[in-house]
Parts: sequence; C-alpha cells; structure tokens
Amino acid sequence: MTNQDFIPKPYTEILENGSVSYQSPSNIALVKYWGKYAEQLPQNASVSFTLSQCRTETTVHFKKKNEDSFDFEVYLDGVRELGFEPKIKKFFERVEHYIPFIKKYHFVIRTKNTFPHSSGIASSASGMSALAMCLVAIENKLNLPKEQQAQHKEFGLQKASFLARLGSGSAARSLEGPLVVWGEHSKIEGSSNLFGTRYPYAIHENFSNYQDTILLVDKNEKQVSSTVGHDLMHHNPYATERFKEANNNLEKLISIFEQGDIDAFITLVESEALQLHAMMMASKPYFILMKPNTLEILNRIWSYRIKTGSKVCFTLDAGANVHVLYPDSEKDAVARFIKDQLAHFCKDGAYIDDFLGQGATVL
Ligand code: PMV
Repeated sequence: MTNQDFIPKPYTEILENGSVSYQSPSNIALVKYWGKYAEQLPQNASVSFTLSQCRTETTVHFKKKNEDSFDFEVYLDGVRELGFEPKIKKFFERVEHYIPFIKKYHFVIRTKNTFPHSSGIASSASGMSALAMCLVAIENKLNLPKEQQAQHKEFGLQKASFLARLGSGSAARSLEGPLVVWGEHSKIEGSSNLFGTRYPYAIHENFSNYQDTILLVDKNEKQVSSTVGHDLMHHNPYATERFKEANNNLEKLISIFEQGDIDAFITLVESEALQLHAMMMASKPYFILMKPNTLEILNRIWSYRIKTGSKVCFTLDAGANVHVLYPDSEKDAVARFIKDQLAHFCKDGAYIDDFLGQGATVL
C-alpha cells in the first residue's frame, strides 16, 4: 500500500447533514516508537497492547456548507474546547488530501474521555483514533452504497489508522486489538509504516486478558512534549543503535508470544521502557520525565518479584506514570500489592485498572 491508495475516487453521494459516533481506546507500547521522519513515519517498528478502559468517545455532526474551508468546533465533556482547535486544524490540513470532503462540511466534534481529565494519560492516541474512525465512517456514507460498506471494513480500519497516524503516531495502533504493530518489519507480514496492523501470529494463552494497572504518579502536563522528544532523536548519538535494537526486540517478541515465555517478556518490556527514557537522558538538550516516585515504584516491583516469584512487570510511556503489567491469574494478589505498597506513590493515591481490548467500535 502507498499514500496513493488512500486518496478516494470522486464521491458519488451528497449528504446534507448527519452524525456518526465511535469509541476508541488508548494503547501501551511494549516495543517503543521514539523518533520519526518525513510525515509521521516511524524510525522503527513498534508493537502495543490495546487497552479497554481508557477510551475516548467521539460524535461528529456534519452539515454541508458552500465555501471550501476548514470549519469545526470541538467540545470536551460538553464544553467548547478552544485549546484543542489548533491541533485539530493541523490534523485536518494533513488529512485533507485523503478525505477531500473535509472542506465541504461544518463539523461539530463532541468528545469525552472515560479516564479522568488531566490524569497525565495522553488522550492523543484514543482521541485521534476515535476522530479518524468518525471521518472514515462519514466518507463511507459519501462514497459507497450501504450494502457495499461491510466488505470495506478491513480497508476502513486501515484508512482510519492511516489518518490517525497523521494526528499522532501512536494513535495508528489503537483501532484494533489486542496487539497491534506499526512500522515496517521484515519478520512481520503485512506491517507498514503507513498504518497499524493486527499482530498476525500466535499469542499464547498466558497473555490472554493481560492486565495493565496505570499508576498516576504525576498528573501535570509533561515538561517536554512527545513532538519535541521525537525531534531530538535526529541528533541523538545513540539513535541508530536504538532503532536497530527496537526492531530486534520486536523480532524476539514473536517467539515470546508464541511460547508464552513471560520471563523473557518481562526482561524485554522493562528494557524497552528504560531505553525510551535513556534516549531522553541522552538527547541534546537532555531531559528526564520520570519522577522520584516513578523510581520508587520500579524498585518495589523488582523487590516484590524477587520475594514472591510474581510475573508482574512495568512499562513506561513518555511521562512519569507507570504501567504495571501482569497475567490475569495474578489479578487479586497484584491488586493487594498495588493497594498496600504502590498506591501511596501515586498522586492522590490514584490508579486505573485496565486490561487488553479489541480497539475501536461504533457507538
Ligand atoms: O504518538 P506520539 O507522537 O505521542 O508518541 C508517543 C510515543 C510513546 O508513547 C513514548 C511510545 C509509543 O510507541 O507509544
């Protein structure tokens, strides 16, 4: 597939107005994407668990208008959110070529997150993927007779992921589940830099219903945005090795998932998380997004694992929060561990219990 494949034929329908609603979840990368080139293309392949509970629900109302321009309003929890508009405008500019109807309509975008606002959890993956699903659904209405729409489901998901990627790279991995690859990888059939694809190989039952409890260490906005962080990889002296290492790690995960080797999974996933933050520390200028409590939590997870033989482990996003990953079979024990030993390192004791999910759905 190339960019060209996502440019539609002239639309066959003209709709005066309507609305569509989709929900889409967040995702957590196991092999991280950090560093991009050209228009939102990843320097290495990444893979993530799709989540369930941390979701964005979006309704887009559209109404035909006469002049060609970007024209939209965004509401978060029912309140007009002017702060979101520059990001959405930039997104519309990037996707216009692929969904030319976007200049023909006035849009009212109503969105809400199921996770608390300002929890420090990035809503860009769930938000951009939910919006992309809505835009693809509108395009289907303009383009295809209803009876033909179902057979285009697979292409619709690809196009939604393609559009979501242009809003936020990691958003490309939120449309499906439970494991999604984004970025071309020689050992992963169908993988692409342009959109995310469902992980195509065997996943051992040890990983079914895997749990992710997100410990909210810091709810403030990050001091360095992902956009700036990605850019700094252009001059990071370790960048080339890092991109190679990520691709090697993704290859190693194939047999780990097949054999259900949780010990190897733990080593690989924790190393990926720490390498992501090592890249930040090795950037010029350098920066650190972890907080003292992040490190306290990591140390306690390591001690707990040694003491109990548990298979609990962690991963990190570009921030101070900790994703605690563990098998479904350890749910009760890890819930007690988190409550008794980790919760007091969280801001206001807050954390979110999440687990693997299947991606975006219509509402
Ligand atoms: O999607 P962005 O541009 O916000 O980048 C996020 C990158 C990480 O979350 C740090 C890693 C990843 O692969 O999701």
